[in-house]
This record gives sequence, C-alpha cells and structure tokens, in this order.
Amino acid sequence: MISKSTIDTVFETARVEEVIGDFVQLKRSGSNLKGLSPFTDERTPSFMVSPVKQIWKDFSSGKGGNVVAFLMEHEHFTYPEAIRYLAKKYGIEIEETQQSDEQKEQANERESMYLVSEYASKFFQHSLLETDEGKAIGLSYFKERGFTSETIKKFDLGYSPDKWDAFTNKARDDGYKLEYLEKTGLTIVKEDKKFDRFKGRVMFPIHSMSGRVLGFGGRILNNTKKAAKYLNSPESDIYHKSKVLYGIYHAKQAISKEDNCYLVEGYTDVIQFFQSGIENTVSSSGTALTPEQIRLINRLTKNITVLFDGDAAGTRASLRGIDLILEQGMNVKVCPFPEGEDPDSFARANSEEEIREFLEENSQDFIKYKASLLMDEAKNDPVKKAGLIRDMVNSIAKIPDNIQQEVYLQECSRIMDISDEVLYATLAQIQNKEVPSSSRQGKQKMEVVREKPVTTPKVDQLYILERNIIKILMLYGNEVEDFEDLLLKQNDDTGELILEPDVQQSKVFEKVFLDLQEDEIAFSNEDFRELYQVLINRLNTGEEFEIGNVVNELEPSQSKEITDILMQEEQYELHSWDRHDIPVKKKEQAVNQYVTQTILNLRRHLIDRKLQELLEGIRTAETEDERTDIKNEVVGFNKLRTLLSERLGRVM
Ligand code: CTP
Ligand code: MN
Repeated sequence: MISKSTIDTVFETARVEEVIGDFVQLKRSGSNLKGLSPFTDERTPSFMVSPVKQIWKDFSSGKGGNVVAFLMEHEHFTYPEAIRYLAKKYGIEIEETQQSDEQKEQANERESMYLVSEYASKFFQHSLLETDEGKAIGLSYFKERGFTSETIKKFDLGYSPDKWDAFTNKARDDGYKLEYLEKTGLTIVKEDKKFDRFKGRVMFPIHSMSGRVLGFGGRILNNTKKAAKYLNSPESDIYHKSKVLYGIYHAKQAISKEDNCYLVEGYTDVIQFFQSGIENTVSSSGTALTPEQIRLINRLTKNITVLFDGDAAGTRASLRGIDLILEQGMNVKVCPFPEGEDPDSFARANSEEEIREFLEENSQDFIKYKASLLMDEAKNDPVKKAGLIRDMVNSIAKIPDNIQQEVYLQECSRIMDISDEVLYATLAQIQNKEVPSSSRQGKQKMEVVREKPVTTPKVDQLYILERNIIKILMLYGNEVEDFEDLLLKQNDDTGELILEPDVQQSKVFEKVFLDLQEDEIAFSNEDFRELYQVLINRLNTGEEFEIGNVVNELEPSQSKEITDILMQEEQYELHSWDRHDIPVKKKEQAVNQYVTQTILNLRRHLIDRKLQELLEGIRTAETEDERTDIKNEVVGFNKLRTLLSERLGRVM
C-alpha cells in the first residue's frame, strides 16, 4: 500500500488545474478556469476548475471532485492508480507502508514482471523500427496490412528477431533476471537452454486499462509452418487472459464518450478500426467473453455492440457468450459482417463514413437478432422450434430488468409467431415459478408477481436541509454574526410568560452547533453526519479554514457532496460567462437570517416527523392510557411547532 505520507505529499504537490490541463483545454475566467466538458460533446463550456479550492465540476454531466476524482473519472483509474500517476507526474517517490515480507516479495515480484514486460515492449519496438531485419520483415508486413506509422506507434507494435535467444540475451545483459523473463513467459527455459518465446513474430503488446504492459500476442509471418498463427503470453501473476481486453487502454476514452463499445474478435480488427476512426473498439482475443471482461466495459458504458465475422460458425459461437453480457444488465446489439469479411478487412476496404453507415444499418438488438436467426433455422420443424423457444427465453431470463424482459417477450412472440402466453409460461418455468394450469392465468400471475411497488419520487426535504447546514458551515462557518434569539421571560407586572427577542453575537458554526445540540439533532444522512463532525472539529480549532484541504481528506462520496455545494455557488459566475445581464446573487447579504432560517426549518421538519410518528402511535395504541399519554405528547410538540413557526415568520 502507498503510505499516508506519500499520499499527503501527492495532494500537497498536485495542482488540479495542471493535471486537468493535460486533458482539457482550459481558459481563465475570473478566479476559475473553464473548458469544454471531457465527458460529453458540448459546444459551450460548462466544465469548471477552481485553482483556489483545488476542485473541478462538470455541469453537463454533474461529475466533480478533487484531482484524484478527475483521474478516476477521466482515465478510469483506481484510487491507487491515480495516486501513482500523480506521483510520477510530479516526480514524487512512492513510499509503501509496512508490508509483511511475503507481501513485499509478491509486490516486488509483480513489479519486476511489469518492468520486464515494459522493457520487452520497448525492445520489440526498437527492433521493428530501427533494425534492418525488423524493417525488412516486420515493418513491411504491418505496412502491407495497411497500418500507418502513426498506428504502429500508437499501439506500440513490435518485432521479435528471428534468432533463438536475441531478446533473452539482450535483456539479461541489461540486468533483467532470468526468473522474471521466465515468469512472464517471454523466455522459455528448457534444462540449460533458453529460447525466446516469440522468435520471428510481429508483436502486439497487451495493455491494462491504465496502460501497463501485461503480456503479448505474437503473429507468425509465414503461413507455411505448422506453428500457431498467434502465440500469446501464458497466464502469469500480471497477465490474466480472462480479465483483459485487447485495446481497452486506447479505447476507453472513446467508449465512455460514445457510450458504446464495439467488441471484435482479433488484434488486427481493433487496430484497423481505430485507424479508421472507430476508436471505441476492443477485442477478447479470440476467446469467449468472460464476466470480468464485461465488467471492464461496464465501468465505461452500458452498451455493447458485438461484431462478428461473416461465417456461420463464428455467429453460433458468438451468440453463446452473449447471455453473459445480458446477465450483467447491459444492452447488447450484434452486427454480423458480410460473408468472408471481418472488421479488419471491411475497415480496410471502406471509408470511415461507410463503416459507420454499415454499423448503423446492420446493428440489431441481440434478442431480436437471435429470434429471427433461430426462426430461419427452424422454420418448418416444430420439434426444433420448441427447443429454440426455450433457448430464446433462456436468454431473456438473464436480463435483470423486468420491464425489459416484458418488452422482449412481446417482441419474440411476434418474431417467432408464438403466443406470448406460451413465452410467459416458459419464462416462469425457467425462473422456477409455479405456473397455474391455465396459461392465461399464468400470464396474469406473472405480471402480478413481478410488479414492483410504485414509489412516487418526492423531494427529500430533510436531505436538502441537512445539506444546507453543511453548506453554511463551509461557506460561513468562521464568520461572526448577530443572531436574534427569543428568550422566555416573565412579565414583571403580570407574571405572564413572554418571548422576548435578544440579539447575541456569535460565530456561525457555534450557533449551528449549539442550536442543533439543544434539540439533540443527529443527521439522518450518513455522509452529512460525518461531514458535520469533520467541519465542526475543524472550525473548532480556530485555525484558518482551507476548503481544499478538507476535500482531500474525505471519502469520495463526501467530497463529491462538498464539491457540488461549492460549485453550485460558482455556477452563478458560470452563467454570467454567457449572459452578462443576469445579476449575480449575493447570498452573503443576510447570512444570519439564512442560518437561523435553516436551523428552524430543520427543527420544524423533525418535529413534523415526530408528530407523524405519534399520530401513528395513537392509531395503533392498545390501551386508552397509552393513547392519552401519546396525545399529551402531541399537544406538547404542537406547541413547540407553533413557536418555531412564529420564529420562522419573524426571520423571513
Ligand atoms: N487467436 C489466438 N491464437 C490463434 C488464433 C487466433 O490467440 N492461434 C486470437 C487472436 O487474438 C486473434 C483472434 O484470435 O486476433 C482472432 O483470430 P483470427 O480471426 O484467426 O485472426 P485475425 O485477427 O483475423 O488475424 P489475421 O487477420 O492476422 O489473420
Ligand atoms: Mn483477419
């Protein structure tokens, strides 16, 4: 694990505007920077970076946070990956926390394997681009396939010399241990002999989502030999075939921006598509898609389009993997290619526009595609047809969303010309549900069973009020204000109890804290509850209060709330970029009023809740005594409520 002090140094050093500036063109605008959202295709800038607060906010997608949150959103890094990226950018040495010797060894071992792989990738590139053999054999092969120099560099393609141990020897000369050469599979060790696994092949390095080299695919050049066309790195501690998608590193940005991922079969399909401008393309490298691979895509988009070669065997095989994708709640389309074509050959022969048009026209919803495909096969064969219905409904059963299931059942009933009752009954069987004898009833039953309770969305007042308290603490916590309180006093003449206004000066956070404590109010939202504690503790130290520092110390969900709150304030400014005629509101004008109002509103809201509980209690009370007790409580709370309303009336 990365040590806390390294993380602190990273946060102290990294500047959000510099880091984001590497990805987004930013222009100064007042105290902030603005630019086009990297998460949507917008034309007027709504992406804001605040150098002062060291946070960012994208108003078009609602995303926002600190520098690490940006890297996690934009580069799809994990938290440690983001920290490592920043450490590298700012030349900060990473210190690992105390690990057991075994953990250390494992981490070191993996790290060594990464280093060897990175080295190998560089070696193969050099050999492709800078050596006579590489240029004559490897480079000319790639050029013949239509890859440009730019593409070859982009994908770090390479060439492994046609000698038994050229790579292994060079690597060992350069100080890389045979142990790691063997563990990554780059070198095959047999007794006392050592061979290069990829001898004489062109090389496709396989990158992780964050761009590290995990392994390689190597393609043979002459088809005469009986050797396999492609050879891949063996499974290792850093390369798990089932968890990797070829091309994901280069495609991730486009996948999330286009909100769709094209899935192809091979290395060259990915590269050719990318070169043609269809950058949101990945490959599972010739094997059936695994759940882990689907999850990788799922981090970027909910939509997959599976492209497959125009041969029947390929089609059949591809269909099988797709149920897995449905299971993960993704929307699947399929696009079959013409007989004898694969995406690679198709992309070579057509312009970007033609490819896009082809994809547009031929991508079909998977379920509909499967239904019509199966129907063609079983047209006049009722026995076959029965089997196919089950096959079909099996796929539909995998879809987690019930409404979508219904829609598909209807659709299939139409395409396959089968009554929807039969399909519902089959689905029920598959889902292990009881089916009543009459299929008509069966359908009705299914619908009842799967109906979800309807919840009408309503504004969560409590959430808003609690959020406002947090906002007040952040924006005005340390300010000193005059607060009017109503004190209970006895009239000297009549002895009557009256409420008398009394003005007292106090810091905003003290007022908030004392008032809430008086009523023993605890926040219902967990994030706010913790934030409240953090902020109160901070303010209580009496030190200068740096919002930026606070944001960095919080959980991602909390820092998102804070960023949202802060940036909402800035949004006034943002609007004025485009529309200067709108006057900028000043909330500061009546901080004391705003604070008092918010606290009173929160208290009244909680009292209302309590009252509701009590009224429910009256209804369900078992004895008359119990009922009377509760009624007395209700009277008490009602008085308090009237009092609060009165005070609210005064401040408003
Ligand atoms: N593959 C593999 N081992 C093989 C054959 C194929 O690992 N012996 C994987 C590769 O990732 C390959 C993919 O399956 O890219 C698809 O195979 P295929 O369609 O045969 O290869 P193409 O990508 O079309 O390769 P090429 O165009 O270079 O012949
Ligand atoms: Mn091919």
